[in-house]
Amino acid sequence: MELSRDVNVALAAVYPWIGSPGVLDGLAASGARWIRVLNESGIDFQASFCDRDNRATRLIGRNLAINGLSANVIRSRFEELPLDDHFNAVDIDPFGSPASFAEHGLALTYPRGLLCMTATDTQALCGSSPTTAARRYDARVFMSPCYAEVGIRTLIGHTARRAGTFDCTVEPVLCHAVDHHYRVYLRKVKGARRSDSALKERMGWLRVGDMGEQTWVLRDRGERGDIGPLWIGPLTDPDVARKAAAWAERNMEERKRTIKLIRTLAEEAGAAGYHNINEISGILKRSPPPLETVLEGLRDMGHTASRTHFTPLGIKTDAPHRDLLDVISSRPCQ
Ligand SMILES: C[S@@+](CC[C@H](N)C(=O)[O-])C[C@H]1O[C@@H](n2cnc3c(N)ncnc32)[C@H](O)[C@@H]1O
Repeated sequence: MELSRDVNVALAAVYPWIGSPGVLDGLAASGARWIRVLNESGIDFQASFCDRDNRATRLIGRNLAINGLSANVIRSRFEELPLDDHFNAVDIDPFGSPASFAEHGLALTYPRGLLCMTATDTQALCGSSPTTAARRYDARVFMSPCYAEVGIRTLIGHTARRAGTFDCTVEPVLCHAVDHHYRVYLRKVKGARRSDSALKERMGWLRVGDMGEQTWVLRDRGERGDIGPLWIGPLTDPDVARKAAAWAERNMEERKRTIKLIRTLAEEAGAAGYHNINEISGILKRSPPPLETVLEGLRDMGHTASRTHFTPLGIKTDAPHRDLLDVISSRPCQ
């Protein structure tokens, strides 16, 4: 949780807000997430904290007072907040799935603002519970070699489709899967044509072959056994991610894990999917080579290749699967 809140602070500190970034922490509990941003980011903004629970709103009031801060504190169901007010960031951090709050969150967010969502129903999103995923996210999700990324892409895909219902779409700015939850920061983009092209060019399906090969395809409908529909566009705005990493290095020097996470997010290769070299080595019936030598081998062949934050044993690459298998087969084992 601390790690996720660190990332939140670093991102809020560098995000190119339009005007003063009024923020709504929509399911705020103690308010800790955005109180930390108020205290640590160095940006000046008007914050509103909402929770349906009386004890939570009292606690938020106390936490604001302890920190010498003032903000609006609202006791309400998030879904009942009037749409008269709009915010540059709306945060949805429920117990479990954010899916049922996404549409109201998008409606409350200004264009170019951020919809920030946490999902803790990782079993549904990553494919361990296909029936729940079908019900909550209107998607077919099964276990796959890159299950954590599938989870994030399913969540974004669902949100992009909901945004389409009122002629908007989303662009991911930063997304991570750590400490048993997923967190996505999505820029809201207005316009029916932008929405149409996102749904046409950024939504698709994943097919996984017997040798672990991943085929990500743009298509309206999946075929039997395919996973989707899911977001197959970029997961990161590299410029914002690099700025957030630099900010964290300057201002959170002692938070090594946070800096490493944001740096990895900023440097992850853009290709969809990641490959676990232990799993592929298992398919090839051999011991895995050191990860660095696989990355070097792929880069020597002219492909992009990077580590991924999704797993320490994972790599992201645009190499054809055949080249990945060749490199893993030909490098000496650890
Ligand atoms: C996981 S906690 C939020 C954690 C918080 N964002 C943090 O970082 O500490 C979920 C909160 O959502 C509140 N909640 C659940 N459903 C809600 C709803 N429909 N509207 C507003 N608040 C809700 C709960 O009372 C609880 O305090």
